[in-house]
Amino acid sequence: MFIRELVPSFVKNSRGERTVQIMLVTYEGRFKVSAPSGKSKGKHEVPSYNSKGIDRSMKLLRVFCRRLENRNFMIRKIDDLKKVVEVVRRFETRYGRFGGNVTYAIESVFLKGAAADNNKEFWEFINDEVNNGKKPKMPMPVGNCIGGGLHSKVIDGKRPDFQEFLLIPKEKTFSRAATVNLRAYEYARKLLKARSRNDEGAWRTNKTNEEVLDVLKTVAKKYKLRIGLDIAASTFYDKGYYNYKNKSLVRDKVDQADYVERLIKKYKIFYVEDGMQEEDFSGYKELLNVVKKGTLIVGDDLTTTNLKLVRRAVNGEAINAMIVKPNQIGSIIEVRDVVNFCKKNKIVMIFSHRSGETMDDTLADYCVGFGGQFLKTGIFGRERLIKLRRVMMIEKSLR
Ligand code: PGA
Ligand code: ZN
Repeated sequence: MFIRELVPSFVKNSRGERTVQIMLVTYEGRFKVSAPSGKSKGKHEVPSYNSKGIDRSMKLLRVFCRRLENRNFMIRKIDDLKKVVEVVRRFETRYGRFGGNVTYAIESVFLKGAAADNNKEFWEFINDEVNNGKKPKMPMPVGNCIGGGLHSKVIDGKRPDFQEFLLIPKEKTFSRAATVNLRAYEYARKLLKARSRNDEGAWRTNKTNEEVLDVLKTVAKKYKLRIGLDIAASTFYDKGYYNYKNKSLVRDKVDQADYVERLIKKYKIFYVEDGMQEEDFSGYKELLNVVKKGTLIVGDDLTTTNLKLVRRAVNGEAINAMIVKPNQIGSIIEVRDVVNFCKKNKIVMIFSHRSGETMDDTLADYCVGFGGQFLKTGIFGRERLIKLRRVMMIEKSLR
């Protein structure tokens, strides 16, 4: 693959923040990748940018990209990406770190170009290696319907303490599932009398966790959906205590696990992400132990797409499912290794957007290509819909 042009630029994400985009021009075409940005980030994620900030990352990236122009990279499979990674590493040792958001964009845009160079769709190119060319199964969407926590501004001083109240369809096709989610989302708006959306396009409300779950239960029943939660427990945890504001209450570790277990039973919750704070492996284990196989106990901040942490969580029986966010680790080779580890250990994978998203649909290809069972990318908003549409397109092309 001959690099004719490699051009970085700033683009705005859905929160209006600047993020990095890279355009690659080869003889096969032009390819673009932009990185999303998190707000409730895991403590163990790699830093998103250089320690001096995004402008320093961009400065470095401009020099780096110019140097790569007119060079040739032979990329026939994901492992060949190591040639690019090596060049990145050498550059970083001399001039400073890019950060995970930037290396995510560099590696992804090279893979995208390489896929075309090999006459393949992006999902197909990465799928071949991981699934030995077998046709992938389409994921089911995980949709953020009602929001709280760090992603939502308060209404009259209040918001739910949990970050995301999710709807998870079980339909024959992805496109049917995405449509059902959208209808259910509109119905939830009516029941809530919601008037505005949060960072991820979920409805804002001042209700408590339980009040929201009551609404969600009605919605889920009507549309035959499963209920999920991203508790994002670390965002309201401090020195041994979970500090609830709506209603005001402090829970210790035992109380927190009890509370989550009670909710799982009462509302028949199918999916619980980050129910305990991000370093509490034994707390997750306690949850998993209670639910056995019925509910997905999902690591996000716990695992941060980092193979070492994923191994610890899986071997310690703390999770049966995990979030895959490529820019948490900033290395696609490591994402591939995490994926293979999950497959081997029957860990359910949920490929996920970030709260600050861009008009980039690469995540959909990663999800399908790597064989993710779920794609968590919101229900509403153009940055979310573009990813849902991409899966629908892939689904259609495979029929
Ligand atoms: P983010 O969080 O704001 O870091 O993208 C989303 C999540 O916790 O799943
Ligand atoms: Zn999360």
